[in-house]
Amino acid sequence: RTLDWNLGTVEKQGFRHFMLKEIYEQPSVVRSCLENYLDSSWSIDSIEARSPITLGAAAELCSDVDYIQIVACGTSWNASLVGKHLLEQLAGIPTMVQYASEFRYFPSPMLANTLTIGVTQSGETADTLAALEMEKQRRMGLEFPYNAKILGITNRPESTLTHMVDCIINTHAGVEIGVAATKSFVAQLMGFYFLALELAYRRKTLSLEKIEILIKGLRKLPNQIEIILEKQGEQIQELSHNFCDTQDFIFLGRGINFPIALEGALKLKEISYIHAEGYPAGEMKHGPIALLDAKVPVVAITMPGVAHEKVLSNAQEARARDAHLIGVTSIDNAESRTIFNDLLFVPEIDEILSPIISVIPLQLLAYHIAAKRGLDVDQPRNLAKSVTVE
Ligand code: G6P
Repeated sequence: RTLDWNLGTVEKQGFRHFMLKEIYEQPSVVRSCLENYLDSSWSIDSIEARSPITLGAAAELCSDVDYIQIVACGTSWNASLVGKHLLEQLAGIPTMVQYASEFRYFPSPMLANTLTIGVTQSGETADTLAALEMEKQRRMGLEFPYNAKILGITNRPESTLTHMVDCIINTHAGVEIGVAATKSFVAQLMGFYFLALELAYRRKTLSLEKIEILIKGLRKLPNQIEIILEKQGEQIQELSHNFCDTQDFIFLGRGINFPIALEGALKLKEISYIHAEGYPAGEMKHGPIALLDAKVPVVAITMPGVAHEKVLSNAQEARARDAHLIGVTSIDNAESRTIFNDLLFVPEIDEILSPIISVIPLQLLAYHIAAKRGLDVDQPRNLAKSVTVE
């Protein structure tokens, strides 16, 4: 054996691929996000009123904004859609998410009191940097309230992004080697939870009691991810054998889990080269349902909450077209077992926190299908970890 082989094995710490190692690192990544951005001595009963979130300068930057616009690419764009949901639902701030490659040439009209956020794991993606630079230039010299501030959310505090923006939120996921982003995605989501909760605290859009409930929920996440990895790892590996020759997959979710359907589909196509689409489940009847038959598996994220019953009925429509149905849910009852061919159980969680939990089985599914197909999971064809040219 060569030295390189041995080094590779050591770095992968016994895992077959970096991607799998990075999936299994997610409990500790979430723990480190919690340590970095939650004030452990905060209590709802403290006499001195202060925020439970410790985002420092990033929090100041956002305090008086009326609108938020986010630019990003790829997985970071999917994370930004979850971020939009949180910023709107928790903090009440209208938020737009744009593909950086579009925004740089076709920007939305300038609004006053707008915070621009660039989300990029690497901090080096050319389109994202160019979109932010364009926004900086077009607002340069404009008087308040049009002189927007720019916040970066990145996993690389030493990156080019950091030098361009007013302030960053460091996502603390550690170096990610697999081209398909996993732990950095979950860390970006954590960044958005902290930002949205901080803004909710400042703007008093949530009661302190609700903030406390959500913080308690966030603190449970590392153990809950561990449970999924322990309990689901082998089941998903087994299940993946059935899909080695599958050509198309559909992923469905609603509300805050719609971006997770997109992310599940993106992970699968990136590394297994299977065509996959993510849809908000209610849109299925407007087109994608025409694709369904016994050869097209459908993965439905059906976490308890506002959208639960609706997603179940959308899933039943897919079942009626003979689709093989896989459910990601925390509800183990006769109804789920009747509707779904396979169930990927996850722990119970508040709907608004559920993306961090529901994405884990989808990452494992994509990984095991690609590994079973014998593909180069860590370096998929035609893709680069960071796209530094246009
Ligand atoms: C590339 C990678 C994706 C990543 C995207 C954005 O396409 O293959 O995994 O999501 O770039 O990267 P960024 O570093 O800006 O988050």
